[in-house]
Amino acid sequence: MSQIDIIKQLAINGLENDQEQLKETLRDLIDYSRKTRKTNFALQLQSILQDGIRRQNLGGLTTVGSKRYFNSIEEKEMEDLVLEKLTSDYTMNNLICSKEVRNNLNYFLKEQNSAKMLNELDLPISNKMLLYGPSGCGKTLTSYVIAGELKRMMYVVNLGAIVSSKLGETSKNLSKLFRRAAQENCIIFLDEFDSIGKVRDYDQDHGEMKRVVNTLLQLFDFLPKETIIIAATNQIQMIDDALKRRFDMTLELDAPTLTEIKALIKLTLEKTKVKFDNQKKINAIEKKCIGLSYYTIQRTLLTAMKRSLLDLDTNIAPKEFCINTAIWEQLIDKEKNNIEKQSQK
Ligand SMILES: Nc1ncnc2c1ncn2[C@@H]1O[C@H](COP(=O)(O)OP(=O)(O)OP(=O)(O)O)[C@@H](O)[C@H]1O
Ligand SMILES: [Mg+2]
Repeated sequence: MSQIDIIKQLAINGLENDQEQLKETLRDLIDYSRKTRKTNFALQLQSILQDGIRRQNLGGLTTVGSKRYFNSIEEKEMEDLVLEKLTSDYTMNNLICSKEVRNNLNYFLKEQNSAKMLNELDLPISNKMLLYGPSGCGKTLTSYVIAGELKRMMYVVNLGAIVSSKLGETSKNLSKLFRRAAQENCIIFLDEFDSIGKVRDYDQDHGEMKRVVNTLLQLFDFLPKETIIIAATNQIQMIDDALKRRFDMTLELDAPTLTEIKALIKLTLEKTKVKFDNQKKINAIEKKCIGLSYYTIQRTLLTAMKRSLLDLDTNIAPKEFCINTAIWEQLIDKEKNNIEKQSQK
């Protein structure tokens, strides 16, 4: 069956409300997408199908348009832990980092791709990674790169939200989430990991948080070999030593060096036909960028690019144009001043 035939069949099954046939046709489309190398699309469909079946089995789902209503409160609370469930097209080419970090990441990916061989030799496979470093230096990006390179679906878990929300069900829900991720062969990305790791020793009314940390420790210890956990924090010093020890790989993603700044600029402008109007000044501006995050450098560069374009006062996109180097320099100076002011406070 061609893709068009499958889609027509899906429409018929949907309109006739034939649930069983609809699932069959969806499975055909998943197979077809895999064969035609639309891996992420296949993963997303697979996940939609699994979620649908699970909710039907719970008997708690009513679908109204694109909105879902859950009768099961537990299901709903667990859904609240998950910020997003996503696939990614990012690859190692999207990430600028030190040689050491790249080397380690490549080994991590290789280990995952060679899991069968390593299993045969009874060698443990690294599956728990801790990323730390200042804001805007690629922790979230690295998690997307890993999901993209391994072609795996990823649950982004909102640990910050757990701390600020009622904690009662959290341990139970985390356990459920880990179980589900294992069933679905998903990566779990625990962002703002410090918000959960740091509180174990606090005296106050944090009994429940201690339980959550202990649950996490246990979940880590009994994690199925196939499940990958990536945790990210910009406050590594806040994290409980017992938790830190559980990770197979801990990587620091720091602000870029001069070489990395140059690579970032090249990467950012790669797909455009844009140049700087004053190339001679670029070396000096790049040096000024030292101390700023990848994110800030990229954002200021894109802003300068947009403003230079808007200053042309045209509605027709030019094939080539120049970035007004002075605009970028001003933006960088402002960012550096802000940092200085903050450090004086
Ligand atoms: N190492 C990097 N290589 C290339 N681009 C980067 C890098 N780090 C950051 N960026 C750019 O900045 C954006 C934001 O980075 P990211 O969200 O990964 O930062 P983060 O470390 O997770 O920050 P936070 O601690 O605030 O969550 C990325 O989407 C990317 O465009
Ligand atoms: Mg982040």
